[in-house]
Amino acid sequence: MTGLRREFQTYKTWDKDNNFHPWDAFDKAGDDKPDRTFSEYAEGIYVFDELGNKVIDGPGGMWCMQLGYGNGEIADAMAAQVRKMAYCSPFSEATSVSAQFAHEIARRAPGDLNRVHFTTGGSTAVDSAIRFIHFRNNLLGKPTKKKIISRVAAYHGGTYLTASLSGKPSEKAWLDTDKYLCHFLPDVTPYRRPEHQSMEDFLKEKVADLENAILDLGPDNVAVFVAEPVLGSGGVIVPPAGYHRLCLEICRKYDVLYLSDEVVTGFGRLGHWFASEEVFGIVPDIITCAKGMTSGFAPMGAAIFSDRLFKDLEGEVSQGAYFTSGFTYSGHPVCAAAGLKNIEIFERDGVLEHTRRVIPHFQKRLAEMLDLPIIADVRGMGLMGAIECSLTRDGKSSPDIDATIGAVIDARCQDLGLMVRPYGNMAIFSPPLIITEAQIDDLFDLLTQGVKEATEELLRQGLELEPVQG
Ligand SMILES: Cc1ncc(COP(=O)(O)O)c(C=O)c1O
Repeated sequence: MTGLRREFQTYKTWDKDNNFHPWDAFDKAGDDKPDRTFSEYAEGIYVFDELGNKVIDGPGGMWCMQLGYGNGEIADAMAAQVRKMAYCSPFSEATSVSAQFAHEIARRAPGDLNRVHFTTGGSTAVDSAIRFIHFRNNLLGKPTKKKIISRVAAYHGGTYLTASLSGKPSEKAWLDTDKYLCHFLPDVTPYRRPEHQSMEDFLKEKVADLENAILDLGPDNVAVFVAEPVLGSGGVIVPPAGYHRLCLEICRKYDVLYLSDEVVTGFGRLGHWFASEEVFGIVPDIITCAKGMTSGFAPMGAAIFSDRLFKDLEGEVSQGAYFTSGFTYSGHPVCAAAGLKNIEIFERDGVLEHTRRVIPHFQKRLAEMLDLPIIADVRGMGLMGAIECSLTRDGKSSPDIDATIGAVIDARCQDLGLMVRPYGNMAIFSPPLIITEAQIDDLFDLLTQGVKEATEELLRQGLELEPVQG
């Protein structure tokens, strides 16, 4: 065994014994636990493992590496801030760097969304936004108006409340969730609509689902509708055109706030700073963001509130109240320095323009994946994409079969040099925004090859092709 291998064998043992990861599986323990691949070095869109194998980062970290890896300018900005002022309590003081970052975000957010509340990531942004909405309704004398409407397949985070708002069944099987505050609308995936239902009727039904839920729960009890513009980790689900605008109208009708969770879609993923207005034509009451805010270089999130929500609270109404919510690292100056530099580079290098230029090629190559017999649906928008496969055993699918499909595609692609993000029978992509058209071709060439090899392997394992929907 070489020195390098031996060193990593030790790290792998420590990783299994001491590093309790998110989503750790419990069916195997000790030496039986599979080794994780170590990502040790990265540059641009490429990640290198401990043996030096190079893969394209298909998921772009976790939808976050907008500028790719190894950006020296962001590293320098963070280092300079560490030396200048590494920490400042957001509870009692301020820093110029976080004030500037808040200002730059507010300038780019739609409408009057000018109040930026920094948090430590996406979950804490959504969680804090909901705490603020509840706080506000308490002050406005609407103490019952607290319920939250979310959707099947949504993902809003990993805190107790935001995990409760997530509508992915696979994430709820083993953990408790709140059932008093959180309510779910049915699936909005066009691909899963009944065979003979038109898109127009599907849209009407999906909007009616929201109105009916508000009426069932009672408008006096419903505080907010929480929606990702495109449901990301639930499988890149793009609701029918017009959906968000009509849902906003329903929210306005019943005095329900609209929280657009742009943790994934914000900061360029759909070619704009924020997608709510530019892509979907709505100005929500609150936008949450994280990930791309710092291009993944530092953990940070924000809930951006409309001025209007604050105006209502001025004066007598607030009865001397404080919004007693926040974190030690809210608005951390080093993270803010990374975020400010990120915005500067986006502007200087025309990153949004570049993204908008390469999106059509990405979507074209994604659409072509449908030619492979195993693939039943492809979905995408901006630099987000998903393939959904369909294979069954004896004509039946199951979560176990889906997980096998995802795992085999993942393994084949990884061997070929492409990191994918499997989710059940799907694989999800959100590469760095700096990706070029040639690199998009590499990504999809490897994916095509990986899916072909995976299909052969899965058929050998006794799975069979399901007739694909037309
Ligand atoms: C839409 C959405 N909201 C919230 C979150 C939670 O963000 P974080 O993992 O930074 O807490 C995520 C994470 O993927 C997300 O996709």
